[in-house]
Amino acid sequence: MIDKIKGHVADVESFNAKTKDEIEAFRIKYLGKKGILNEYFAEFKNVPNEQKKEFGQVINELKTAAQEKVTILKEELENSQEEKGVYGDLSRPGEPVEIGSRHPISIVKNQITEIFSNIGFNVSEGPEMEDDWHNFTALNLPEYHPARDMQDTFFIQTDPDILLRTHTSSVQVRYMEENKPPIRTISPGRVFRNEAISARSHCIFHQVEGLYIDKDVSFADMKQTILYFTKQLFGKSKIRLRPSYFPFTEPSAEVDVYWGLETETDYRITKGTGWLEIMGCGMVDPNVLRNCNIDPQEYSGFAFGMGIERIAMLLYQIEDIRMFYENDLRFLEQFKSAL
Ligand code: PHE
Repeated sequence: MIDKIKGHVADVESFNAKTKDEIEAFRIKYLGKKGILNEYFAEFKNVPNEQKKEFGQVINELKTAAQEKVTILKEELENSQEEKGVYGDLSRPGEPVEIGSRHPISIVKNQITEIFSNIGFNVSEGPEMEDDWHNFTALNLPEYHPARDMQDTFFIQTDPDILLRTHTSSVQVRYMEENKPPIRTISPGRVFRNEAISARSHCIFHQVEGLYIDKDVSFADMKQTILYFTKQLFGKSKIRLRPSYFPFTEPSAEVDVYWGLETETDYRITKGTGWLEIMGCGMVDPNVLRNCNIDPQEYSGFAFGMGIERIAMLLYQIEDIRMFYENDLRFLEQFKSAL
């Protein structure tokens, strides 16, 4: 009997089939309920004890061989059908296609860019590694000016003239040097400040700064532009401007948007005031215009700047700025449905 089973093993191994039905018939013949294997298994109890071991081994061998044959033949059949463009089983579930998502910083940057491009602002870019002139001096921050300490700077090696830009105002200087008014431009980009990393601040972050230069540009124009922006981005239509100081603008202001006090979160993020600070702004200082070869007698303008992380944190209720840079898929995948 053992030889007979071995014969079956050889049959199974040399078996070949081209159609689904043939394979199925083969499966039933060997592995079916009333198939050859079950017959031998039933036979097992009648086998003399000293032969049981060998008998067990060969029927297991037959079983494995038959199972493997069925799997291989099925696979071959499927592959050959796919090659021909015929799908074996149309009810087979599709293979999931993972879609990516934009990074929340990009989403918010694109939103801000679009809002300003709708009112005629173009986008300008500049280098992340800057010289002292474009990051500081041209912006009314001469050497040893105490306000340089407002933005702790990373310098490149030992050259005090080369640094990582601390704001994208440097791009605006470049833009003014190369373009004549009227100017309407926004400069999104990555900036660097030598600050301790915490939930609230990071040494690398992103800004969008804006610049508008023309004849007779007034503070009221700036206020209306910023109001338009806050309405578009946050859907909030109340802002206030608090006097502030920036070396490159005069007068300068900090913009707060009225967020409201409807929910507990509103209370927490606005510290119970309902107001949230969202950007800095001001009328471009005549010294800055002069440094960039624009005549302040003829032209005036305003500038503003905001941190993209801060705005993204407000829009998406993100508690910790470090989440943006950790590449944690559980975080990033939540933005799949966004733009
Ligand atoms: N450059 C300022 C900053 O980085 C922002 C700003 C831009 C303020 C333009 C006023 C006008 O903090």
